[in-house]
Amino acid sequence: MTRTVESVVVRLSPSVTLIHGRCLDVLPVECDIIITDQPYGTGWIRGGGKQAGEFKRRKEGADWDVFDLAWMEKAPHRIAAFCPVQGVWDMCLRLPRPHVLKYRKTNPAPYGVPCEPIVSSHAMPNGWEKEAYNGDNSLHPCQKPLDLMAWLVDGLTVEGETVCDPFMGSGSTGVVCVRYGRKFIGIEQDAAHFETARKRLEAELAQGTLDFGGGAAAPTHNLSSEARPSKGENNE
Ligand SMILES: C[S@@+](CC[C@H](N)C(=O)[O-])C[C@H]1O[C@@H](n2cnc3c(N)ncnc32)[C@H](O)[C@@H]1O
Repeated sequence: MTRTVESVVVRLSPSVTLIHGRCLDVLPVECDIIITDQPYGTGWIRGGGKQAGEFKRRKEGADWDVFDLAWMEKAPHRIAAFCPVQGVWDMCLRLPRPHVLKYRKTNPAPYGVPCEPIVSSHAMPNGWEKEAYNGDNSLHPCQKPLDLMAWLVDGLTVEGETVCDPFMGSGSTGVVCVRYGRKFIGIEQDAAHFETARKRLEAELAQGTLDFGGGAAAPTHNLSSEARPSKGENNE
């Protein structure tokens, strides 16, 4: 474990590095692409976690949920990020040839949005839309489905490349990177979410997915299943 002025760097394996800190303090990092689910600036507690529908929080303007595209100035030329509808134009203007992808939820909340845009610097090889079931969000209020993240990682990167998620949350992007043989750098400012991600990725690495110090890893797991942290390890 290395401590920088503001950040703590935890190297879980030769291919997985987690950094507890604010991404603007940490970026740029050496990576091929940023794939991220950035904060949306809504303050809503989304998903089915225990705080779902706690609309009071919206007025309080949660500090973990600030929509700010400053990270793009410290990003490599390849990026893909979930984006609020009202932020799509802003993101697109910062890219030379933007592509807007679509995540369609099979189980949108009543009165909730059925789709989320993803702005990408590059086209997806197999269509622009992915349908996925947004599960119970047991690890993070904004937890993204693994098969959705796998669609992005698999479509936008090749084996051995390094993916950075500067808003890592519970580490869903990282889990997919381990399974698909991509290196991963995750950054998270919240201590509880950082711990969730660390334990989740440790469990993932312990399952023995090939670590590709030289060799390659293929997706060896069923993406819908994962080693769940034991009770009490959750952040909720
Ligand atoms: C939308 S959530 C990501 C959830 C993730 N997709 C998952 O599956 O768990 C965004 C995360 O970014 C974190 N965050 C917000 N601002 C940050 C910053 N400046 N630097 C690092 N992390 C930040 C929040 O704490 C939150 O966990």
